[in-house]
Amino acid sequence: MKVLSIVGARPQFVKLAPIAHALESARHDHVIVHTGQHYDVRMSDVFFDDLDIPEPDVHLGVGSGSHGVQTGAMLSSLDAVLEEHAPDWVLVYGDTNSTIAGALSAVKLHIPLAHLEAGLRSFNRQMPEEHNRVLTDHAADLCLAPTEVAMGHLAAEGLAARSMMTGDVMTDVCLMVADRVGDVRAALPEGVGDRYVLSTIHRAENTDDPERLRGIVKGLASLPIPVVLTAHPRLVQRARHHGIDLDEGSLHTIEPLDYPAMVRAVRNAHHVVTDSGGLQKEAFLLRTPCTTVRTETEWTETVDLGWNVLALDPADLPALVARPEPPATDETPYGDGHAAHAVVTALVSNRR
Ligand code: UD1
Repeated sequence: MKVLSIVGARPQFVKLAPIAHALESARHDHVIVHTGQHYDVRMSDVFFDDLDIPEPDVHLGVGSGSHGVQTGAMLSSLDAVLEEHAPDWVLVYGDTNSTIAGALSAVKLHIPLAHLEAGLRSFNRQMPEEHNRVLTDHAADLCLAPTEVAMGHLAAEGLAARSMMTGDVMTDVCLMVADRVGDVRAALPEGVGDRYVLSTIHRAENTDDPERLRGIVKGLASLPIPVVLTAHPRLVQRARHHGIDLDEGSLHTIEPLDYPAMVRAVRNAHHVVTDSGGLQKEAFLLRTPCTTVRTETEWTETVDLGWNVLALDPADLPALVARPEPPATDETPYGDGHAAHAVVTALVSNRR
């Protein structure tokens, strides 16, 4: 079987790692196409190096741009790549512009399309990711769902017959890396002791509106313990543009971390404050309480189990970070760390 993976943004490289390893160990052919949506070394190369992902076979070098420009540039390059490699499956990941571009290109060329991390919904139609994931699910021949909740959303949209529950591949990689890094403590900025909050903020809805961003930064800066803010380039640029200081009060802003460093930093943190989907789940898997700076989450299991709370108003951050530790749980809503094998099995058994 020949699978062609299309990736381009940081969280997709993390999801690609266990898939690449599972395809390799089952001796399937795997072509990796990197769209170039993310291109800084700390947003891309370090993930390939640390997670032992083979070099991309094709790099489209698309770079940044408005949604239309970026997605269109990917589309115009992908046709020739898919035709040349003629895979049994095109596999797209998650909900970025690289996902929707890969999906459109595959279905127009009548190449079977599988969507990894299918069925997630925020029901927030302001989010670019919501359109990307809904459209990709409806285009796909095979929807690979990480959770029962996701399977329920797919069924509600009439997609049950094309959907399979595989578990979540981010669990595979998070547990594997946590095991590999052992008890080594996180390297933190000077002045940050053992008790700190780890934070990431990057979503368009939090960074593009200056008042919203100012409120979030103020909420983080006012926390009573140091806040290690690992800053996505989008956050740095938006803050600079709006004249917002990312080093005020409790804030210690650093560059994005590589994946093993992130796992260590999350595991040792007192609390995580984020708007990232992946980090909410990693915090849960590593049992660090999390507060999510959004009005909804796709990963509702983290909230239901008490490990994640939504901060609707950033002024609530001090109270939310001070809340008592949630009850211990051994629930595994995101699978047992073997989702990538389930994905490969699903691809083999549904091959045309
Ligand atoms: C994208 C995804 C988002 C995902 C996030 C993970 C879409 C619509 N959004 O958002 O779902 O959560 O990736 O990180 O696909 N930039 C750099 N260097 C880079 C990459 C980006 O400087 O390597 C800057 C550029 O100014 C760019 C901005 O960050 O314009 C935003 O990048 P983009 O890929 O458009 O979206 P993200 O915010 O990263």
